[in-house]
Amino acid sequence: METNRTAGTSGSAYLRKPSSHDATLTEVGPGTPMGELLRRYWHPVGLVADASETPKSVRVLGDDLVLFRDKTGRPGLVWARCCHRGTTLYYGKVEERGIRCCYHGWLFDVEGRCLEQPCEPEGGLHKDKIRQPWYPVREQYGLVFAYMGPPDKKPVLPRYECLETLADGEFIDADDTSIGSGGDAIAPCNWLQHFENVLDAFHVPILHGNFSGTQFIEVMNKMPEVKWDYTPLGVKTLSERKLDGGRTMRRITEVVLPTLRVVPNPFVGEYGRVESIGWTLPIDDTHYRIYTAGRVRQAGVFLPRGAGAPANARRWRDMSEAERRDFPGDWEAQIGQGAITAHSEENLVTSDRGIVMLRRLLRRQVEAVADGKDPVGVTFDEVAEPIVLEASNRLIDA
Ligand code: FES
Ligand SMILES: [Fe+2]
Repeated sequence: METNRTAGTSGSAYLRKPSSHDATLTEVGPGTPMGELLRRYWHPVGLVADASETPKSVRVLGDDLVLFRDKTGRPGLVWARCCHRGTTLYYGKVEERGIRCCYHGWLFDVEGRCLEQPCEPEGGLHKDKIRQPWYPVREQYGLVFAYMGPPDKKPVLPRYECLETLADGEFIDADDTSIGSGGDAIAPCNWLQHFENVLDAFHVPILHGNFSGTQFIEVMNKMPEVKWDYTPLGVKTLSERKLDGGRTMRRITEVVLPTLRVVPNPFVGEYGRVESIGWTLPIDDTHYRIYTAGRVRQAGVFLPRGAGAPANARRWRDMSEAERRDFPGDWEAQIGQGAITAHSEENLVTSDRGIVMLRRLLRRQVEAVADGKDPVGVTFDEVAEPIVLEASNRLIDA
């Protein structure tokens, strides 16, 4: 018979304690520990084409910003709220020298300098004292990257070998549809839920291999042997699957700080090094999106599917709600964890080791920044070599 003393172990939902998330790991706003860590790196904030003469609203790490390109071709990223009396520069107009606010016509250049105040005597005698908040941007791999951290700590924008060395016929293309989220471009959950999934090797045979039928290729349905290891810049997962005929499929996926998901094509169009990098961009605490840059042979084709592409792995946007319920994928599983998962309610087990390692690594970097040190992967060396990643799909002979 249950007594008061044992009531707490009965599992009754009535006896639940209030749940909570780990704010240090998940919250990204200015001044938060993770927000300060992430602000020490460059992040993609749009496609190169998004920086245009039409101002575009972008929300990154909880900041509301406006991306534009002045008529001399320079991209700019400024605080959305005009520093005069606060309307949004989203309604501004782009000119030769910058963006002009719709309300009283102040003109700002791509670095926020106030160039004109048309309502003021002589065009504004004190306009030089005014500065619209702005962030530095750089264009690379078809993406616009922004640095949103302390100006004196601005690192070099990293380059990656897998996007630098191209085979014949390959070129670099960029994508903003959140390849890998398994759903829409903007996902309504915390960025870490997706980032951790990259190291969750065991959900592949369950969610993608059995529960919803074959969503990738059949060999991925097999239960792999898995090892996790730290790399110089993150954590990698090594998954090995024995194939008929004695060969082994060796698949390495990586997370690289700050937010890079480095995942070889799960449809295994071809074996070899990873084809693309996805940046898991925290929009705010409860939304993320993924920008991808990759080597392609055809514009817009990032995940070439092999001959074994399964019939039931339809694109999310082509599925009905009933089909999504019947064949859930990454989107359903991760959004299903809630806007920010309740870490207090988790029961982590041995197959979650990669996730535990990632959280430990992130916590160490948060502490490093709080101690005034540079986090891992930040370099100020202008001639640093491109970063070599291990992520790949390979066939190993017996
Ligand atoms: S609010 Fe922008 S110029 Fe006045
Ligand atoms: Fe997945």
